[in-house]
Amino acid sequence: MAVPASFSIGPIRIAPATVLAPMAGVTDTVFRRLIRNQGGCGLIMTEFTSSHGVVALKKNTRKPTKAFRYLYFEPEEHPITAQLFGSDPVVMAEAARVCEDQGFDAVDINFGCPVNKVVKCNGGSGLLRDLPLVERLLQEVRAAIKIPLTMKFRAGWNDRELVYLQMGRIAEDCGLQAIALHPRTREQGYSGKSDWTRIAELKAHVKLPVIGNGDILTPEDACRMVTETGCDAVMVGRTASANPWIFRQISEYLATGSYWVPSERDRYDIMRTYYTMLRDKDAMDTVGKMKQFATYFTHGVRNGTKLRTAIYQATDAASILDLVDRFFEHELTIAA
Ligand SMILES: Cc1cc2nc3c(=O)[nH]c(=O)nc-3n(C[C@H](O)[C@H](O)[C@H](O)COP(=O)(O)O)c2cc1C
Repeated sequence: MAVPASFSIGPIRIAPATVLAPMAGVTDTVFRRLIRNQGGCGLIMTEFTSSHGVVALKKNTRKPTKAFRYLYFEPEEHPITAQLFGSDPVVMAEAARVCEDQGFDAVDINFGCPVNKVVKCNGGSGLLRDLPLVERLLQEVRAAIKIPLTMKFRAGWNDRELVYLQMGRIAEDCGLQAIALHPRTREQGYSGKSDWTRIAELKAHVKLPVIGNGDILTPEDACRMVTETGCDAVMVGRTASANPWIFRQISEYLATGSYWVPSERDRYDIMRTYYTMLRDKDAMDTVGKMKQFATYFTHGVRNGTKLRTAIYQATDAASILDLVDRFFEHELTIAA
Protein backbone atom coordinates (compact mmCIF):
# COMPACT_ATOMS: atom_id res chain seq x y z
CA MET A 1 0.00 0.00 0.00
CA ALA A 2 1.36 3.41 -0.94
CA VAL A 3 1.03 6.78 0.77
CA PRO A 4 -2.36 8.07 -0.49
CA ALA A 5 -2.41 10.80 -3.14
CA SER A 6 -4.64 12.86 -0.85
CA PHE A 7 -6.75 12.86 2.29
CA SER A 8 -9.28 15.25 3.78
CA ILE A 9 -9.34 17.24 6.97
CA GLY A 10 -12.99 18.30 6.94
CA PRO A 11 -13.46 20.29 3.74
CA ILE A 12 -9.73 20.72 3.13
CA ARG A 13 -8.10 18.38 0.66
CA ILE A 14 -4.49 17.67 1.54
CA ALA A 15 -2.47 16.39 -1.42
CA PRO A 16 -0.32 14.39 -1.15
CA ALA A 17 -1.19 12.80 2.19
CA THR A 18 2.01 13.96 3.88
CA VAL A 19 2.42 16.33 6.81
CA LEU A 20 5.44 18.19 8.18
CA ALA A 21 5.41 17.56 11.95
CA PRO A 22 5.36 20.62 14.19
CA MET A 23 8.81 21.08 15.74
CA ALA A 24 9.50 23.87 18.22
CA GLY A 25 12.65 25.76 17.27
CA VAL A 26 12.65 24.24 13.78
CA THR A 27 9.42 24.67 11.83
CA ASP A 28 9.24 28.46 11.70
CA THR A 29 7.99 30.29 8.61
CA VAL A 30 11.39 30.15 6.88
CA PHE A 31 11.89 26.41 7.35
CA ARG A 32 8.27 25.67 6.42
CA ARG A 33 8.66 27.56 3.15
CA LEU A 34 11.93 25.78 2.45
CA ILE A 35 10.05 22.48 2.78
CA ARG A 36 7.08 23.69 0.72
CA ASN A 37 9.36 24.86 -2.06
CA GLN A 38 10.91 21.41 -2.46
CA GLY A 39 7.45 19.98 -3.29
CA GLY A 40 5.68 16.87 -2.03
CA CYS A 41 4.51 18.13 1.36
CA GLY A 42 0.73 18.28 1.69
CA LEU A 43 0.32 20.07 5.02
CA ILE A 44 2.58 22.14 7.23
CA MET A 45 2.08 23.14 10.84
CA THR A 46 3.41 25.89 13.08
CA GLU A 47 5.59 25.26 16.12
CA PHE A 48 3.45 24.72 19.21
CA THR A 49 2.24 28.03 20.54
CA SER A 50 1.00 28.88 24.01
CA SER A 51 -2.74 29.56 24.05
CA HIS A 52 -2.16 32.07 26.85
CA GLY A 53 0.44 33.80 24.68
CA VAL A 54 -1.98 33.99 21.76
CA VAL A 55 -4.73 35.50 23.88
CA ALA A 56 -2.28 38.05 25.33
CA LEU A 57 -1.28 38.86 21.76
CA LYS A 58 -4.84 39.83 20.98
CA LYS A 59 -4.85 42.28 23.86
CA ASN A 60 -1.47 43.79 23.06
CA THR A 61 -0.90 43.97 19.34
CA ARG A 62 1.89 46.54 19.50
CA LYS A 63 4.51 44.39 21.17
CA PRO A 64 5.85 41.52 19.02
CA THR A 65 5.66 38.53 21.34
CA LYS A 66 6.85 34.95 20.85
CA ALA A 67 3.29 33.94 19.96
CA PHE A 68 3.24 36.64 17.30
CA ARG A 69 6.36 35.18 15.70
CA TYR A 70 5.09 31.61 15.95
CA LEU A 71 1.81 32.47 14.26
CA TYR A 72 3.36 34.41 11.39
CA PHE A 73 2.99 32.76 7.99
CA GLU A 74 3.17 33.70 4.31
CA PRO A 75 0.41 33.05 1.74
CA GLU A 76 2.43 30.29 0.01
CA GLU A 77 2.27 28.23 3.23
CA HIS A 78 -1.40 27.28 2.78
CA PRO A 79 -2.70 24.80 3.74
CA ILE A 80 -1.27 25.43 7.20
CA THR A 81 -2.39 24.44 10.69
CA ALA A 82 -1.73 26.47 13.85
CA GLN A 83 -0.76 24.26 16.78
CA LEU A 84 -1.74 25.38 20.28
CA PHE A 85 -0.98 24.08 23.74
CA GLY A 86 -2.55 24.85 27.09
CA SER A 87 -5.05 23.40 29.50
CA ASP A 88 -7.66 26.08 30.07
CA PRO A 89 -10.64 25.39 27.77
CA VAL A 90 -11.79 29.02 27.70
CA VAL A 91 -8.33 30.39 26.91
CA MET A 92 -7.76 27.68 24.31
CA ALA A 93 -11.07 28.48 22.60
CA GLU A 94 -10.19 32.17 22.52
CA ALA A 95 -6.74 31.39 21.11
CA ALA A 96 -8.27 29.13 18.44
CA ARG A 97 -10.54 32.01 17.38
CA VAL A 98 -7.48 34.25 16.98
CA CYS A 99 -5.89 31.60 14.73
CA GLU A 100 -9.06 31.37 12.67
CA ASP A 101 -9.12 35.16 12.29
CA GLN A 102 -5.47 35.13 11.19
CA GLY A 103 -6.40 32.91 8.24
CA PHE A 104 -5.11 29.51 9.35
CA ASP A 105 -6.74 26.57 7.58
CA ALA A 106 -7.04 24.47 10.74
CA VAL A 107 -6.20 24.45 14.43
CA ASP A 108 -4.40 21.57 16.14
CA ILE A 109 -4.14 20.92 19.85
CA ASN A 110 -0.97 19.44 21.29
CA PHE A 111 -1.36 16.54 23.72
CA GLY A 112 2.11 15.21 23.19
CA CYS A 113 4.73 17.66 24.37
CA PRO A 114 6.88 15.93 27.02
CA VAL A 115 8.75 19.10 28.08
CA ASN A 116 8.54 19.71 31.85
CA LYS A 117 7.74 23.41 31.57
CA VAL A 118 4.64 22.57 29.52
CA VAL A 119 3.60 19.44 31.44
CA LYS A 120 3.82 21.27 34.80
CA CYS A 121 1.04 23.61 33.66
CA ASN A 122 -0.95 20.53 32.68
CA GLY A 123 -0.32 21.20 28.98
CA GLY A 124 0.98 18.86 26.26
CA SER A 125 1.26 15.24 27.36
CA GLY A 126 0.26 16.21 30.93
CA LEU A 127 -3.34 16.20 29.71
CA LEU A 128 -3.12 12.51 28.86
CA ARG A 129 -3.71 11.95 32.58
CA ASP A 130 -6.90 13.99 32.68
CA LEU A 131 -9.23 12.78 29.94
CA PRO A 132 -12.33 14.62 31.25
CA LEU A 133 -10.35 17.86 30.83
CA VAL A 134 -9.29 16.80 27.32
CA GLU A 135 -12.96 16.34 26.47
CA ARG A 136 -13.98 19.75 27.85
CA LEU A 137 -11.11 21.40 26.03
CA LEU A 138 -11.99 19.83 22.70
CA GLN A 139 -15.69 20.59 23.08
CA GLU A 140 -15.01 24.22 23.93
CA VAL A 141 -12.58 24.74 21.05
CA ARG A 142 -14.75 22.86 18.54
CA ALA A 143 -17.68 25.11 19.38
CA ALA A 144 -15.55 28.26 19.08
CA ILE A 145 -14.30 27.91 15.49
CA LYS A 146 -15.64 26.94 12.06
CA ILE A 147 -12.34 25.74 10.54
CA PRO A 148 -11.24 22.11 11.09
CA LEU A 149 -9.90 21.06 14.47
CA THR A 150 -7.30 18.31 14.84
CA MET A 151 -5.15 17.00 17.66
CA LYS A 152 -1.71 15.43 17.95
CA PHE A 153 -0.96 13.18 20.86
CA ARG A 154 1.28 10.55 22.39
CA ALA A 155 0.09 7.05 23.29
CA GLY A 156 -0.12 7.78 27.00
CA TRP A 157 1.89 8.90 30.00
CA ASN A 158 3.68 5.56 30.25
CA ASP A 159 3.18 1.93 29.22
CA ARG A 160 0.86 1.32 32.18
CA GLU A 161 -1.34 4.29 31.32
CA LEU A 162 -1.99 3.97 27.59
CA VAL A 163 -4.91 6.14 26.50
CA TYR A 164 -4.57 6.46 22.73
CA LEU A 165 -7.77 4.56 21.97
CA GLN A 166 -9.79 6.58 24.48
CA MET A 167 -8.24 9.76 23.09
CA GLY A 168 -9.31 8.76 19.58
CA ARG A 169 -12.87 8.12 20.70
CA ILE A 170 -13.05 11.44 22.58
CA ALA A 171 -11.80 13.25 19.47
CA GLU A 172 -14.47 11.58 17.38
CA ASP A 173 -17.24 12.35 19.88
CA CYS A 174 -16.14 15.98 20.07
CA GLY A 175 -16.36 16.39 16.27
CA LEU A 176 -12.67 16.73 15.38
CA GLN A 177 -11.69 16.36 11.73
CA ALA A 178 -8.43 14.35 12.02
CA ILE A 179 -5.96 13.05 14.60
CA ALA A 180 -2.22 12.41 14.58
CA LEU A 181 -0.56 9.85 16.81
CA HIS A 182 3.12 9.71 17.80
CA PRO A 183 2.92 6.32 19.47
CA ARG A 184 5.66 6.78 22.07
CA THR A 185 4.67 7.49 25.67
CA ARG A 186 5.59 10.61 27.59
CA GLU A 187 7.98 8.63 29.77
CA GLN A 188 9.68 7.24 26.69
CA GLY A 189 10.65 10.69 25.44
CA TYR A 190 12.40 9.90 22.16
CA SER A 191 13.97 6.65 23.31
CA GLY A 192 13.18 3.23 21.87
CA LYS A 193 11.13 2.84 18.75
CA SER A 194 7.72 4.12 17.73
CA ASP A 195 5.31 1.21 18.07
CA TRP A 196 3.34 1.46 14.85
CA THR A 197 0.92 -1.29 15.92
CA ARG A 198 -0.66 1.42 18.11
CA ILE A 199 -1.36 3.50 15.01
CA ALA A 200 -2.99 0.45 13.38
CA GLU A 201 -5.14 -0.15 16.48
CA LEU A 202 -6.21 3.48 16.56
CA LYS A 203 -7.09 3.45 12.86
CA ALA A 204 -9.27 0.37 13.40
CA HIS A 205 -10.93 2.04 16.41
CA VAL A 206 -12.11 5.34 14.86
CA LYS A 207 -13.65 6.61 11.64
CA LEU A 208 -11.67 9.85 11.67
CA PRO A 209 -8.66 10.25 9.37
CA VAL A 210 -5.58 9.07 11.27
CA ILE A 211 -2.16 10.59 10.59
CA GLY A 212 0.69 8.25 11.53
CA ASN A 213 3.90 9.69 12.96
CA GLY A 214 7.19 8.43 14.34
CA ASP A 215 10.53 7.26 12.97
CA ILE A 216 9.96 7.71 9.25
CA LEU A 217 13.49 8.00 7.90
CA THR A 218 13.01 7.14 4.22
CA PRO A 219 10.28 7.02 1.54
CA GLU A 220 10.23 3.25 2.02
CA ASP A 221 9.40 3.78 5.72
CA ALA A 222 6.52 6.11 4.78
CA CYS A 223 4.97 3.43 2.56
CA ARG A 224 5.61 0.72 5.14
CA MET A 225 3.80 2.76 7.79
CA VAL A 226 0.71 2.98 5.55
CA THR A 227 0.88 -0.73 4.73
CA GLU A 228 1.29 -1.78 8.34
CA THR A 229 -1.22 0.60 9.92
CA GLY A 230 -3.70 1.64 7.23
CA CYS A 231 -3.18 5.27 8.30
CA ASP A 232 -4.62 7.98 6.03
CA ALA A 233 -1.51 10.16 5.95
CA VAL A 234 2.05 10.19 7.22
CA MET A 235 3.75 12.86 9.30
CA VAL A 236 7.52 13.39 9.23
CA GLY A 237 9.48 15.36 11.82
CA ARG A 238 13.18 14.94 12.60
CA THR A 239 14.12 13.47 9.24
CA ALA A 240 12.95 16.65 7.52
CA SER A 241 15.37 18.86 9.44
CA ALA A 242 18.42 17.03 8.06
CA ASN A 243 16.80 16.02 4.78
CA PRO A 244 14.42 18.78 3.61
CA TRP A 245 13.88 16.74 0.41
CA ILE A 246 12.16 13.86 2.18
CA PHE A 247 8.67 14.84 0.99
CA ARG A 248 9.84 15.28 -2.58
CA GLN A 249 11.56 11.89 -2.32
CA ILE A 250 8.34 10.27 -1.04
CA SER A 251 6.42 11.70 -4.02
CA GLU A 252 9.05 10.52 -6.47
CA TYR A 253 9.13 7.08 -4.90
CA LEU A 254 5.35 6.82 -5.24
CA ALA A 255 5.44 7.91 -8.87
CA THR A 256 8.47 5.99 -10.10
CA GLY A 257 9.56 3.43 -7.51
CA SER A 258 12.87 5.21 -6.98
CA TYR A 259 13.97 8.63 -5.79
CA TRP A 260 16.60 11.24 -6.32
CA VAL A 261 19.42 11.48 -3.78
CA PRO A 262 20.94 14.92 -3.17
CA SER A 263 24.53 15.58 -4.20
CA GLU A 264 27.06 17.80 -2.36
CA ARG A 265 26.04 20.57 -4.76
CA ASP A 266 22.36 20.16 -3.77
CA ARG A 267 23.35 20.33 -0.09
CA TYR A 268 25.23 23.53 -0.76
CA ASP A 269 22.26 24.99 -2.64
CA ILE A 270 19.78 24.20 0.10
CA MET A 271 22.05 25.54 2.82
CA ARG A 272 22.63 28.74 0.91
CA THR A 273 18.93 29.10 0.10
CA TYR A 274 17.92 28.59 3.72
CA TYR A 275 20.57 30.94 5.10
CA THR A 276 19.69 33.61 2.57
CA MET A 277 16.01 33.30 3.46
CA LEU A 278 16.92 33.64 7.15
CA ARG A 279 19.08 36.69 6.51
CA ASP A 280 16.41 38.35 4.40
CA LYS A 281 13.77 37.75 7.03
CA ASP A 282 16.09 39.58 9.41
CA ALA A 283 14.85 37.49 12.33
CA MET A 284 16.15 38.23 15.82
CA ASP A 285 17.79 34.83 16.03
CA THR A 286 19.21 34.55 12.50
CA VAL A 287 22.74 33.67 13.63
CA GLY A 288 21.47 31.15 16.22
CA LYS A 289 19.31 29.47 13.58
CA MET A 290 22.22 29.34 11.14
CA LYS A 291 24.33 27.58 13.78
CA GLN A 292 21.52 25.18 14.64
CA PHE A 293 20.95 24.24 11.00
CA ALA A 294 24.67 23.88 10.32
CA THR A 295 24.40 20.78 12.54
CA TYR A 296 21.46 19.40 10.55
CA PHE A 297 22.58 20.31 7.05
CA THR A 298 26.22 19.25 7.17
CA HIS A 299 25.52 15.65 8.13
CA GLY A 300 27.00 13.42 5.47
CA VAL A 301 28.88 16.34 3.89
CA ARG A 302 32.57 15.60 3.35
CA ASN A 303 34.63 17.61 5.89
CA GLY A 304 31.33 18.92 7.31
CA THR A 305 32.83 19.10 10.82
CA LYS A 306 35.26 21.78 9.63
CA LEU A 307 32.41 23.92 8.33
CA ARG A 308 30.34 23.42 11.48
CA THR A 309 33.22 24.44 13.73
CA ALA A 310 33.85 27.59 11.71
CA ILE A 311 30.15 28.49 11.72
CA TYR A 312 29.87 28.01 15.50
CA GLN A 313 32.64 30.57 15.97
CA ALA A 314 31.16 33.20 13.63
CA THR A 315 29.13 36.09 15.02
CA ASP A 316 27.20 37.52 12.09
CA ALA A 317 25.05 36.26 9.23
CA ALA A 318 27.22 37.70 6.43
CA SER A 319 30.35 35.88 7.61
CA ILE A 320 28.43 32.62 7.97
CA LEU A 321 27.18 32.87 4.39
CA ASP A 322 30.72 33.64 3.31
CA LEU A 323 32.03 30.57 5.15
CA VAL A 324 29.42 28.36 3.45
CA ASP A 325 30.35 29.74 0.02
CA ARG A 326 34.08 29.32 0.53
CA PHE A 327 33.75 25.84 2.01
CA PHE A 328 31.64 24.45 -0.81
CA GLU A 329 33.62 26.25 -3.49
CA HIS A 330 36.66 24.36 -2.19
CA GLU A 331 34.90 21.01 -1.68
CA LEU A 332 33.10 21.10 -5.02
CA THR A 333 36.32 22.00 -6.84
CA ILE A 334 38.09 19.01 -5.26
CA ALA A 335 35.18 16.75 -6.19
CA ALA A 336 35.10 18.01 -9.81
C1 LIG B 1 13.03 19.59 18.13
C2 LIG B 1 11.63 19.03 18.22
C3 LIG B 1 10.57 19.87 18.52
C4 LIG B 1 9.27 19.37 18.58
N1 LIG B 1 8.24 20.23 18.80
C5 LIG B 1 6.96 19.78 18.74
C6 LIG B 1 5.86 20.68 18.81
O1 LIG B 1 6.03 21.91 18.89
N2 LIG B 1 4.61 20.15 18.75
C7 LIG B 1 4.38 18.80 18.64
O2 LIG B 1 3.23 18.37 18.59
N3 LIG B 1 5.41 17.93 18.55
C8 LIG B 1 6.67 18.39 18.58
N4 LIG B 1 7.71 17.52 18.41
C9 LIG B 1 7.42 16.10 18.13
C10 LIG B 1 7.34 15.86 16.61
O3 LIG B 1 6.29 16.59 16.02
C11 LIG B 1 7.13 14.36 16.29
O4 LIG B 1 5.95 13.94 16.88
C12 LIG B 1 8.28 13.50 16.80
O5 LIG B 1 9.53 14.08 16.53
C13 LIG B 1 8.22 12.09 16.20
O6 LIG B 1 8.26 12.14 14.80
P1 LIG B 1 9.64 11.89 13.97
O7 LIG B 1 10.15 10.54 14.40
O8 LIG B 1 9.22 11.93 12.53
O9 LIG B 1 10.59 12.98 14.35
C14 LIG B 1 9.02 18.00 18.38
C15 LIG B 1 10.09 17.15 18.10
C16 LIG B 1 11.40 17.64 18.02
C17 LIG B 1 12.52 16.72 17.69
